[in-house]
Amino acid sequence: MLVVDNLVKQYGDLIAVDGVSFTAGKGMVFGLLGPNGAGKSTVINCISGLLRPTGGHISVAGFDIRKEAKKAKKALGVVPQELALYEDLPAIDNLRYWGKAYGLRGEYLESRVDEVLNTAGLADRAKDLPKTFSGGMKRRLNFACGVVHKPPVMLLDEPTVGVDPQSRERLFELVEAERENGSCIVYSTHYMEEADRLCDSLAIMDHGKLIAQGTVAGLRTQLGARDVLQLSGSFPGDATKQAIRALASGGIDLEIINHEEAGLTLTLSGASQHLPAIFEALSGAGALVSETSLRSPNLETLFLLLTGKELRE
Ligand SMILES: Nc1ncnc2c1ncn2[C@@H]1O[C@H](COP(=O)(O)OP(=O)(O)OP(=O)(O)O)[C@@H](O)[C@H]1O
Ligand SMILES: [Mg+2]
Repeated sequence: MLVVDNLVKQYGDLIAVDGVSFTAGKGMVFGLLGPNGAGKSTVINCISGLLRPTGGHISVAGFDIRKEAKKAKKALGVVPQELALYEDLPAIDNLRYWGKAYGLRGEYLESRVDEVLNTAGLADRAKDLPKTFSGGMKRRLNFACGVVHKPPVMLLDEPTVGVDPQSRERLFELVEAERENGSCIVYSTHYMEEADRLCDSLAIMDHGKLIAQGTVAGLRTQLGARDVLQLSGSFPGDATKQAIRALASGGIDLEIINHEEAGLTLTLSGASQHLPAIFEALSGAGALVSETSLRSPNLETLFLLLTGKELRE
C-alpha cells in the first residue's frame, strides 16, 4: 500500500532524511520510532505531499506521489503532529469540512461524520467548539478529521503527545479499529511502549536514517539475551577501557557501548552474576561508581545499543 524508496529531504545543508526506504501493507501498523529531530515528521510530510522530497520515490496505494499526486492524496488520511482544527468551528463542522475536502457528500458524508464522532467518543460534544475541549479531546477530534473519508493509508504523526492516559488508550483503540478495517497505518512516536503495543513492523530512526527495521520480536532477538548496565560516576579513560578488556578476555561476555568521563554503558550477558567482578575491576582502575542501572533487553536498550544514546534525552 505504501512504498518509500530511498527518500532524501534536505533543508539547505541539513539532510533531515537520508535515504529512507520501507514498505507497509494492508491491515498493519508500521511504526517510525525515533527521538526529537530524527526526521519522522519530515518523512510523513513528504509522503503526504506537504513537503517536496529532494530525492527518492514514494507511492501510495499504487500511485506515484509526483506523477499521480491527486489519486495518491485521495488514498491518504493524515493526522498531523500539530493540531489541524478550526477552533471556532463546532467539532461536527470540522469533520464535515474535512469530509468535503476529500469529496464526501450528502448522506454518506453525514453518516461518516456521525460514525467517527462516535468512535472518537465525541458524539455528545459534536456541537461544541474545539477551543473548549481538553488536549485529549482535541487529539481525538484531530484523529477523527484524518479518518473521516476512510482512507486506505493513514499517516499518524505522534498522535498521543500531550494526552491523558485515558484518551491515549482511546486513541490506541481507534488505531486498532482502523487496522482491523484493513487500513495501512504509519505511526510515528518516540515512545517505545507505544511502538511495542501497536506496531506490527517497526523502523528505528536517528539522524535521518533508519538504523534498524523489522518486527518488534525480530528486533528484540537482534539484542540477544544481553542486558544493559549503565553506570555513572567517574571513569578515567584508558584505565577503565583496559579493565573492561581484561574482564572480556577473562571470559565475561561484555562490551562497551558508551564511555565518557562521567558515565559508562556496557552490554553483557548474565549481568547480575558478573556485577561483583565488574565493580572490583573498575575500582582497581581508579573508577568511582555513584549510580547503577541494570536493564533487561527491550526496544529502548536496542536504541541505546545502536546509537550509544538514550531514546529520550
Ligand atoms: N522547515 C525546516 N527547515 C529547516 N530544518 C528543518 C525544517 N523542518 C525540520 N527541520 C530539521 O529537520 C530535522 C528533522 O526534523 P523532524 O521534524 O522531521 O523530526 P521529528 O523526528 O519529527 O522530531 P520530533 O519528534 O521533535 O517531532 C531536524 O533537525 C529539524 O531541525
Ligand atoms: Mg515530528
